[in-house]
Amino acid sequence: MTRICVAGGTGEVGREVVRQALSGGHTVAVLSRNPPPEGSPEHHDGATYFRADVTTGEGLAEALAGADVVIDCLEGQSGKALRRFAAGGALLLAEAIAAGVGRAVLLSIINCDQSTYGFYRSKADKERVYARSQLETVTVRATQFHSLVAGLFAAGSRVGLIPVIRGTRFQTISPADVAAALIEAAVESPAGDRHSLRTVGGPEIEGMRALARTWKRVTGARGVVAVFPLPGSMGRFLREGRNLAPGERHGGETFEGWLEKRTENL
Ligand SMILES: NC(=O)c1ccc[n+]([C@@H]2O[C@H](COP(=O)([O-])OP(=O)(O)OC[C@H]3O[C@@H](n4cnc5c(N)ncnc54)[C@H](OP(=O)(O)O)[C@@H]3O)[C@@H](O)[C@H]2O)c1
Repeated sequence: MTRICVAGGTGEVGREVVRQALSGGHTVAVLSRNPPPEGSPEHHDGATYFRADVTTGEGLAEALAGADVVIDCLEGQSGKALRRFAAGGALLLAEAIAAGVGRAVLLSIINCDQSTYGFYRSKADKERVYARSQLETVTVRATQFHSLVAGLFAAGSRVGLIPVIRGTRFQTISPADVAAALIEAAVESPAGDRHSLRTVGGPEIEGMRALARTWKRVTGARGVVAVFPLPGSMGRFLREGRNLAPGERHGGETFEGWLEKRTENL
């Protein structure tokens, strides 16, 4: 049994980490700015929820007290949250060290250090904070989530267009498969390296057009597939396939399987 603190344990992946860690018999503390009320879908019975903010430090000591490992599933997409993303990681690690935590596991994005896109740069900055920490750290880079691509299709279909970025393939992965990799990194025996980096990718590599066809068929949504070029550093990153890890096909939940499960539950 490991005592795990999940930072961002109310988010898409964090919730799944909490669910799997509890069913694996671990003790789980969760920190986020808005702890979920009991009975809400974000709340897992058996976990202890703490109100904490990694940008101010509020509540971190309480949430981390007694933990063996912290798993960082935090997000900071824009504005101040984006600018403070790496600093938030540094504060979390400093508090973890003070609390006697032995290891920190960071969820990051595949090859984020190979793009000049600001969002990816913030991920790479945080990875560097982890790689310099006194604490033992494991950084787990994931390929894009199924929900990211599905979200792009859904947003476009509201105006009748299902966007497909020309020349782009994805190796999307489910939150459950990412969570399993994070828990494995949290509980495995120390490998000897103080800081390690690994990548987890989804089970299949598919062109975005094929994913759009699958999305339309499973959801029954209307819309015309619209292929467009994506300029800039993100477009280049995708065209060059830097979002893919062909040798790292983890987990079994395909885009179609994940989508079918969600559609059935709607
Ligand atoms: N989407 C993808 O394709 C993809 C692929 C690979 C990796 N990732 C990365 O994986 C990570 C997790 O993604 P996700 O989609 O699961 O994130 P998410 O659903 O947005 O969840 C983020 C979590 O962080 C918490 N949080 C945000 N700011 C906080 C703060 N200042 N202090 C404390 N808690 C805070 C949120 O709760 P509150 O808002 O209540 O605080 C929430 O629990 C992200 O870094 C993401 O970029 C994403």
